[in-house]
Parts: sequence; C-alpha cells; structure tokens
Amino acid sequence: MSDPSPRESPWWRRAVVYEVYVRSFASAGAGRSHGLGDLAGIRGRLPHLADLGVDAVWITPFYPSPMADGGYDVADHRGVDPRFGTLDDVRALVAEAHDRGLRVLTDLVPNHTSIEHPWFAEDPSLYVLRPGRGDGPPNDWISAFGGPAWSRMPGSDLWYLHTFAPEQPDLDWSNEEVRRRFDDVLRFWLDLGVDGLRIDAVPAIGKDLTLPDAGHGPGALFASSSWVGSPQWDGDWVHDVVARWRSVVDEYPGDRVLVSESVVAGPERAARYVAPGRMHTTFNFDHLHAPWEPAALRAVVDATLAALAPTGAPATWVLSNHDETRHVTRFGRRSTGVGVMGFDAGDPSDLALGLRRARAAALLMLALPGSAYLYQGEELGLPEVTDLPEELLQDPTWERSGPTSRGRDGCRVPLPWSGSAPPFGFGAEDPWLPQPASWADLTAQAQDGDPTSTLTLYRAALRLRRELLAGEEFGWDDAPAEVLSFTRGPGLRCVVNLGTEPLPLVGEVLLASGPVPGDELPPDTAAWLTVP
Ligand code: NOJ
Repeated sequence: MSDPSPRESPWWRRAVVYEVYVRSFASAGAGRSHGLGDLAGIRGRLPHLADLGVDAVWITPFYPSPMADGGYDVADHRGVDPRFGTLDDVRALVAEAHDRGLRVLTDLVPNHTSIEHPWFAEDPSLYVLRPGRGDGPPNDWISAFGGPAWSRMPGSDLWYLHTFAPEQPDLDWSNEEVRRRFDDVLRFWLDLGVDGLRIDAVPAIGKDLTLPDAGHGPGALFASSSWVGSPQWDGDWVHDVVARWRSVVDEYPGDRVLVSESVVAGPERAARYVAPGRMHTTFNFDHLHAPWEPAALRAVVDATLAALAPTGAPATWVLSNHDETRHVTRFGRRSTGVGVMGFDAGDPSDLALGLRRARAAALLMLALPGSAYLYQGEELGLPEVTDLPEELLQDPTWERSGPTSRGRDGCRVPLPWSGSAPPFGFGAEDPWLPQPASWADLTAQAQDGDPTSTLTLYRAALRLRRELLAGEEFGWDDAPAEVLSFTRGPGLRCVVNLGTEPLPLVGEVLLASGPVPGDELPPDTAAWLTVP
C-alpha cells in the first residue's frame, strides 16, 4: 500500500464536487424564469449542498446564450443570461457559498461559441473556415450530435466547422488572438473570485487542422464512437494551450483548480491533460462508462491509478453527468455500461435493481482515493426520465439524429425538492421539462430524516469520508472474483458484492448501501467496514 499524496494536499485532491445543471436545479425567478432554474435558485438551495457535505459546486454555463445546446453555445463569455440572473447574482452566490465552506467552479467553453457571439460576425478569421470540395463540405467529419460537421458561411463560399451543433462554430486555436481573448476570459472569472473552472471539450481544441478525412461512411449520422479518441482530436498541440491556461491560473493565489473534460481514448491519453504544468484534474470517463461488472470496475480503477501515478495528479470518479443516462437507470438494464454521451434509450430498466446498484456504486466511488463528482439528483436516487413527450425534447441530438436518438433531456429533468405534485418545489412555474408524478416519493423533503433514503446514505457517506479518508492510500484485498474489496489506510475497508450470493463480512459495518442481515453482504450491496 502506498500513499502518493504530496505533503501539501490542496482541497481539490479529494474534493467531492457537486454538478449543478443550472437549467434544472432550482428556480427562484417567479414569473420570469420560463420554467428554468436560475442563480437565485442555486443560492436558495446552498443549505442542501452544505448539509449534503460536498466540498464544491460546479455550475454549468449560465452565460447569455440562444440555448441551441442548453447554454454550451455561449454568446458572451463575461455575462449572465437574464433568464438565469445577473453578474451580481454570481458574486453573491460565490460569497454565500464561501460562507458555507463550499467552493465554486464555473464552466468555460473554449472549443466553440454560439453562432450569435459577436466574434462570429465581426471577425470570422477566429473560426475554422475552409473552402468546400466541389459542392460539398471540406471533409467528411460528422458532428457529435449527428449530421455533417460543416455548414456554409452565410453569404460566402466558405464553410465553417462545428464539432457540435451548427449553432456552435469552432474557434481556431492555432490563432494567437483566440488564445489571448481566452486568457482574458479566464482572468475575468478568477478576478471575480471563482475557485476554479471546468473546461469543456478540451481535446476538440487540438483538432488536426490539416483536416484529413476521417473515413466515416455515408449515413454515419450519429456516431458517438467518433467522439472518443477521434483521430482528428487530441493532437499534441492542445497541450500548449492547456499549459497557457495553467500559467494564467497560477498567477492567482488560493489553490484555484482547472478541471478538464477530456473525452479521449483511455486513461493514458487523459493523463496527458494533467501532466505537470497542465490542468489539475480531469474527469474520468472510463469510470463513468464502466459496466456494473467486477472485472471491468477493478480494471478501470487500476488503469486510472496507474496512468495518473507519473503525473502526480489525483484520480477523479464519476457516475453520472448532464450528458449521460442516469446511473440508476443504466445499472437496471441488461447492458450496464454506456458509450460516450449515452444517447441510446436502451433496454428497459429494472429500477429497483438499478437503485440498489447505484447506492452500492456510490459507496464504491466515495471510498476510492482522489476526488469525486456527483450529478445533481443522484443523491435522491433519481432515475432517467425515458418517456418525455417527443415534442418537448430540446437536446439538438434529437433533431440531428433523424430524429432517432432522444438525447440527453432525460437526465436533465428539473429536481424534485418538496411537495406531493409537480413542480415539486422546483419553482413557481411549470418546469421546462415535466417531472414524473412518481417523483413525489423522491423529493429532498420526503427523504430528509428517513434512515433508509438515498439522501441519508449520501449524507452519511460524505460525513464518514471526511472523518476517515485523509490520505490517498489504497490497496486491493484478497477477495473472490465477484467481490471488490480494498483498504484505505487504517481507517476504512470498502467491500462491494457484485456476485449472486451473500458474502460473510469481517469487521464492524460503519455504513452499508442496503440492509446487511446477519453480517452477510447481499448481492449488489456495498459496505464500509473497520479494518480488523
Ligand atoms: C460537453 C458538454 O458537457 C455538453 O453538454 C455539450 O453539449 C458539449 N460539450 C459541447 O459544448
């Protein structure tokens, strides 16, 4: 067992970060919110986050945006969309979060802007523009949301690249002026007092600007596999950009952090984003996509720790986010892993089984060394909403895929806070996506104080984690193949039963994801134990 933690351990090395998807967290804007969450809504729910016991909040984009991609189409990097509030709301949110001991991360979207960003009209040379080939686009690349990755510039023979929706033209990061402008954007948010930034789609910046064909056959409309480890992405030169961001952040005191969204081919490629002098941490998509199978989970833990060891960066772990099928639903299906951006509604889910596994997966994740990301609502055990009416779907994937793929709206349904009927305390208006009536039992209010609730489990796990898990020691224990068992220093052992038979336990049970009758751990259950 080794402890690779440096002597000084900044907060982000083992932080539990809670993702707030701003449109769907909480709404305070009575009468003017259009059923969207907002910054005042987040401020009002900070007590929930403090009671939960997380260390930080990552807030998805709240900037002015036409909302072609839920705010990831940014029209002004230094403003706030009036539907979400004002810059003063951001300042107040940061101050109030700090008063409660919570750090705040904002989201930076550098690969593309909104087509309505003034830069696109004023200085198109900041974007990737090329002449077409014959009557067609410059190459065969497809967008992550389906359809060609190129659209014609209005009134011109040139085409612009959009890795995502046509309303999201890609910036050309080989252009020094783009780099300079983003230095300023970073400084703007750091000056405002945020504790760090989550950076969107970083490997897409490092695209091969010689624009070689990717070889997608015709009809490959939505090929999520083209996203992961795409040969056109993740070029070495992206790390010059990353190092530049890091040097800007290093100008600031107070352990600010850069978190990379690096969807790449495996942990070694991801580790390159957190090599010394680059970002501080990176999301772990290999963990997010791992199926509920012991060998796969063990392999992802080993591969993550091995890939990161030479960098000195901490591991991160994550089960859900605003782009993926919620893990309660995923784990109740026959096929429990997902491809990147789990757009496929997939096979039917046994939600009782899924919830049992989701609770066990949470104890597994929260016992691993490093930092963890929670997605809003997972502390309530929310499932994916798989039956949203088609006419309400807003994710661009729906239209761009034919429509064949329902996209990501099912994990973005506004949270249920209280009461027995929609909008469940989310706000004064009908939420932008309808909440299922069955969520009455899943509200934060309904779960508060219930010893068996998922909310109570998360609160207890986060409290114990703070008490018992100071360092980064980790070692596997001898265990049967269908069991994951590891020890974290003298204080804690985590055992997860992924088999079909109950498993006798040794040690005192500190916390378990479900009932542990007669000191035997049932299938699909996890326990934290004292180390005998
Ligand atoms: C990743 C974000 O998480 C996703 O929601 C968005 O659609 C793409 N990047 C494009 O910005």
